Amino acid sequence: MDSQPHFFFCRYCRSIETKAPIVCCGDKMVEFRWDDSLEIGNQIVDAQHKELVDMFANLITDFYSEKPTYELEQALNFLDAYTVNHFNTEEQLTQSLQFKEFEKHKGMHETLKKTVAELIGKFQREGPSGSLAMELNTKIGDWLLVHIRREDAKIKPYLK
Ligand SMILES: [Fe+2]
Ligand SMILES: [Fe+2]
Repeated sequence: MDSQPHFFFCRYCRSIETKAPIVCCGDKMVEFRWDDSLEIGNQIVDAQHKELVDMFANLITDFYSEKPTYELEQALNFLDAYTVNHFNTEEQLTQSLQFKEFEKHKGMHETLKKTVAELIGKFQREGPSGSLAMELNTKIGDWLLVHIRREDAKIKPYLK
């Protein structure tokens, strides 16, 4: 049995399935989960990335398992705090490595922090819903995987 947190989504209409992938919009759903190709080679950063991806997958799954609202809000706030902590760690590291894109990279972190705050505000106003889970996946889940793969991966050469 695969116990690693994961869920599936349709890349076209953004529908989410938490149990098993289905064909949606004429294509196989995409799986959201950690995989080792996301590693950048720094133990602390990699562990935090894995934790973030797992935490996000659990959060989305929780949205569909009728968890009480306060538990979802707690999970969202925890994700928010963990993200801020991770960005601080990564920024300290990249600054010490004299990473060329430090300022630009930091700017991307700032943007995501604002997005998370906005979505928490929306959750507080409107409560949990499938459409909010889809929005979280589009604006935070996608961002996370793309950012780790494309942006955090640029730190790799500095670690050698
Ligand atoms: Fe980053
Ligand atoms: Fe990161």
